[in-house]
Amino acid sequence: MKQKLEEILQNGLKEIDSANDLKVLDEIRVKYLGKTGQLTQILRGMKDVPAEDRREVGSLANSVRQKLEEKLSEKLAALENAQLELEMEKEKIDITEPSKGVKRGALHPLTRFNNKFIDLCVEMGFTVIQTPEIETDYHNFEALNVPKNHPARDMQDSFYITDNILMRTHTSPAQVRAMETMKPPFKIVCPGRVYRNDDDSSHSPIFNQFEALVIDENIGLQDFMIMVREMAVRLYGKNVKMRVRPAYFPFTEPSIEIDATCQMCQGKGCTLCKGTGYSEFFGGGIVNPAILEMSGIDSNKYSGFAFGPGIDRSVMVTNKIPNIKYLFRNDLRFLKQMR
Ligand code: PHE
Repeated sequence: MKQKLEEILQNGLKEIDSANDLKVLDEIRVKYLGKTGQLTQILRGMKDVPAEDRREVGSLANSVRQKLEEKLSEKLAALENAQLELEMEKEKIDITEPSKGVKRGALHPLTRFNNKFIDLCVEMGFTVIQTPEIETDYHNFEALNVPKNHPARDMQDSFYITDNILMRTHTSPAQVRAMETMKPPFKIVCPGRVYRNDDDSSHSPIFNQFEALVIDENIGLQDFMIMVREMAVRLYGKNVKMRVRPAYFPFTEPSIEIDATCQMCQGKGCTLCKGTGYSEFFGGGIVNPAILEMSGIDSNKYSGFAFGPGIDRSVMVTNKIPNIKYLFRNDLRFLKQMR
């Protein structure tokens, strides 16, 4: 019996040693330690062993089982490890391999300027609003003190859809819509596309403006100038110079046009600024009290200022773009240079 156990142990160890996959290993376990396994049978047959030998044989059988179990679990760990290594080897990534190249996108220069200006206005406490691109004649003209047949309508050649509906010629109708719906005090800015029947290298029938309007008590030209100065500094840096010229808009009184250091030549004088060193920044002025009254705001209590920068010209100048049409063509060759 002892010899038999010794044989089982030696054979078992040898087989376990040479097992090279998990399935074979399990078969070996069943062969020796399973329900009908060789060792199990011996343990079951203990009752036939003479009483005086039972103890010795019993403890030997137990130690054989222990040794086989130990060997099995050692081998199991080794085989599992080997399998893991194999999988890791298969899934290895070569991080030194050259990449296929990533195509980098970029924001359109108009969008970039737009975002920059809007961020600036939001920091200054403005609410951003959007109003329709297809407007009523009332909001685009009449409520802005430009009655039918007023010569000021000639300043803006319009695309009419019907007698009373047109593509907005400027973002100023946003002023009217804000005054109609918001309670002063308020500060709004409205970015958007505008449309005029104009077409050459520096004019496009579609272009972009901002409308800014501030309404509060005791607002005067000095408040306007302080804000404009701050905006110019934040957009063009603190060395920016500004100058103010008188202008005319039916909806502001007084009206002014503000120029800032030409960004193409940094004030040295170039063809764009016709040697003056300045280029137009924007037009604006103190809101005409008649406009406030027309939209239901008490002009004895409230006053305000409004201004309307066009953004396409600024984008052209800062990016040295010779023709405004490039901004609207969606030509990738152009856009790629704008990164
Ligand atoms: N809407 C005017 C234009 O397009 C600009 C402007 C805006 C003037 C606000 C005064 C106040 O020319």
